[in-house]
Amino acid sequence: MTQTDQDRVMIFDTTLRDGEQSPGATMTHGEKLEIAGLLDDMGVDIIEAGFPIASEGDFAAVTEIAKSAKNATICGLSRANFKDIDRCWQAVKHAKSPRIHTFIGTSPLHRAIPNLTQDEMAERIHDCVTHARNLCDNVQWSSMDATRTEWDFLKRTVDIAIKAGATTINIPDTVGYTEPAESADLIKRLIAEVENADTVIFSTHCHNDLGMATANSLAAVNGGARQIECTINGLGERAGNTALEEVVMALRVRHDIMPFDTRIDTTKIMNISRRVATVSGFPVQFNKAIVGKNAFAHESGIHQDGMLKNRETFEVMRPEDVGLSGTSLPLGKHSGRAALRDKLEKLGFEMGDNELKDIFVRFKALADRKKEVFDEDLIALIRDEETNTAHDRLQLKSLRVICGTDGPQEAQLTMTIDGTEHQVTATGDGPVDATFNAVKELFPHTARLQLYQVHAVTEGTDAQATVSVRMEEAGKIVTGQSADTDTVVASARAYINALNRLLVRREKGKPDEDIKTVTYKDAG
Ligand code: KIV
Ligand code: ZN
Repeated sequence: MTQTDQDRVMIFDTTLRDGEQSPGATMTHGEKLEIAGLLDDMGVDIIEAGFPIASEGDFAAVTEIAKSAKNATICGLSRANFKDIDRCWQAVKHAKSPRIHTFIGTSPLHRAIPNLTQDEMAERIHDCVTHARNLCDNVQWSSMDATRTEWDFLKRTVDIAIKAGATTINIPDTVGYTEPAESADLIKRLIAEVENADTVIFSTHCHNDLGMATANSLAAVNGGARQIECTINGLGERAGNTALEEVVMALRVRHDIMPFDTRIDTTKIMNISRRVATVSGFPVQFNKAIVGKNAFAHESGIHQDGMLKNRETFEVMRPEDVGLSGTSLPLGKHSGRAALRDKLEKLGFEMGDNELKDIFVRFKALADRKKEVFDEDLIALIRDEETNTAHDRLQLKSLRVICGTDGPQEAQLTMTIDGTEHQVTATGDGPVDATFNAVKELFPHTARLQLYQVHAVTEGTDAQATVSVRMEEAGKIVTGQSADTDTVVASARAYINALNRLLVRREKGKPDEDIKTVTYKDAG
């Protein structure tokens, strides 16, 4: 499809900034670089790579992403103060196409935090956008909590930002408060009433607190917005953000009534969705639109019958459109290395010979325990290989668990800690509790388990289980994952994986380097 400026909607992905702000979704430096590469590759126009002033880690990640991006504009976030903006510029300036994004909360509730009058805030916006524009040609202004800002003041903030040189004006629904008609109207009125509004791009940034983020973003496009801010899987604080896959597919599928389109290669959606789910530790709910496990599953007889006759009876898009292979022929224990390589390539994984050798060993072990190895099993296996690496300080060696009706259950655990082998037997209230107690005896720590979740990867009693855990220690939140046909083994590995991440975070820095503790007091 050819696109004119009129029907082109820019996709601004903020998975690595707003998405990463979800408690526990913290990603490592390497993971951020990898996700940025996937976003760039799938055709995202602007990647918001982080909040450079928030921590050394964020600064380093934005800098590296800026250096390596091929096509996308690389954007960093900064509050409305010169120090933030300068730091942001230092990180994004390496990009072929850099952008500074600066913001302040403009609603009465937000103005009260830095205790600024409307006039003082107006002056701050003017000064900061001017300063940013002196550094960079591409500046985005956001009036945070725009949907709860008085109309006259919102108009004034937008007017000042445009006059000071902003090239994109973002109108965030920070608390997921608006609804579609209002969302469309707000953008339409701003474009109609603010001087020189036609010289900038209007952007929409919606949160999902009332479950309307995607609808509100699309409505904003109908009102004249030409940039949608979103995240993969809708990752984000509280109920999350507009999901990239939802707005992109909605525009593709309903082009008849929404004559706009994006540059996104939708066949890359499923792969990046899975990768973000793994590295963020936020599994995708089964019935999530587009990327959920059941999004293309047809269970009832009537639906299956209809599908066999004509798939359009119950599907508005094809699984292939989002990168799911139509059929999933399982591998088994007699499948060889070539069949495995072929399958992995179809799933979008390119492997070197050594990597393939390692995965083949694990595949064979899995195929010995499981009759059929499905696509989902292989993906879980590869993710497990990626998350639990040989460099980890804590490694599971062996686990034997005694469980049954007569407790207490018992776990005999062997683990290596920094290369030295340790053994212990611990009891607990159930096999998982006994296992976690054993880990804790060998590696004492004060981290608190906040979440423990088990999902079956495929159907059947021999299915692999993916286990996710989330832990907190002194304000630092980490997640861990693992997959195995033995749920208790997967649980032990996930727990150990989270502890390894905690060790990395302990080494990296103090909790006050975290974005969530950067306060308005620092602004100015
Ligand atoms: O939700 C919000 O308002 C934001 C801004 C920083 C754009 O994330
Ligand atoms: Zn946001």
